[in-house]
Amino acid sequence: MRTRTRSPRVTAAALAASAALLLGLTVAPAADAASPHRDRAATLDDLARQHGRYFGSAVDNPELADTPYADLLGTEFGQTTPGNGMKWDATEPRRGVFDFTAGDEIVNYAKAKGLKVRGHTLLWHNQLPSWLTSGTWTADELRSILKNHITKVVKHYRGKVFAWDVANEIMNEDGTYRENIFYKTLGPGYIADALRWARAADPRVKLYLNDYNVEGTGAKSDAYYTLIKRLKADRVPIDGFGMQAHLALQYGFPYQMRQNIQRFADLGVDVAITELDIRMILPSDATELAQQADWYGQVTSACLAVRRCVGITLWGYSDRHSWIPATFPGEGAALPWDENLRHKPAYDALRKALTATTS
Ligand code: XIL
Repeated sequence: MRTRTRSPRVTAAALAASAALLLGLTVAPAADAASPHRDRAATLDDLARQHGRYFGSAVDNPELADTPYADLLGTEFGQTTPGNGMKWDATEPRRGVFDFTAGDEIVNYAKAKGLKVRGHTLLWHNQLPSWLTSGTWTADELRSILKNHITKVVKHYRGKVFAWDVANEIMNEDGTYRENIFYKTLGPGYIADALRWARAADPRVKLYLNDYNVEGTGAKSDAYYTLIKRLKADRVPIDGFGMQAHLALQYGFPYQMRQNIQRFADLGVDVAITELDIRMILPSDATELAQQADWYGQVTSACLAVRRCVGITLWGYSDRHSWIPATFPGEGAALPWDENLRHKPAYDALRKALTATTS
């Protein structure tokens, strides 16, 4: 079992590298500075930690039974997110009846392996239990259902997760509010309420809004920029903005990603890359895999360029377990490890970006 404790030699090397980074010196990555053995031992998370960031991967409960997969997840990464285990349909399958089995399984696995956990997610329009979606609720009833859900789940995981995606995917592409069940019944004020209830249940956990197609500038990320600015002005607790980063080669790289991360950081919130994968139309060829590698490097460099970009999470790390083929038929090959847990060019690009001294 691995813990977060590092050997003194690695720590010293990391410190030296960090000091050199601060001084603006060109320095070989700490992992290369000594023996080849140590080079092999430096993981993506070790490299990210030299920049004060984490490098993680989501995991879905059934994947923990895939021992080689779970073992590599536990050694290469420093953070995990339950792919499904903490969603509303899993945690409150019947009204007022909570089931933390799936989430707890991942929290316990993470603890054994020394991984930090991001909680995902308290409120979303998908994967809601049918008792909630098929019921008809007055505003007072729905408000009390939402408050109870957030309060119970956040209290259960207090001290076990360091961040929560409080509200997931609450904006449309054009920057208007998504008309989910909460918006339709409660109006846009449900977002501030959700954040306040989460804060009341855990004063220390970092509270995030999280969405896709917000990595670059555009109407949707502008809407979040405006919302977070207003929440801050109103003293509503908001600590971070999660950019899912479900990218696809056929749609182009997000426009001005680094500048976009920076403008959120400048509002006084952390930014995290929360669900990174880069899909393509199958079958993949060497040119596409090279472009994918370049994009993985670019996302990593964009995060490292902004001090408040706190870490990167892959949405699964290998093409063996990925949500893409089931959700986007004909697409896939989205992750840095292939089906046989072998490195793809994207893995080397991640290492390269994480060992670069300037971004
Ligand atoms: C996905 C899971 O990976 C799948 O297993 C599930 O069937 C559907 O949801 N954005 C999110 C994640 O915020 O919760 C989604 O996860 C992927 C898109």
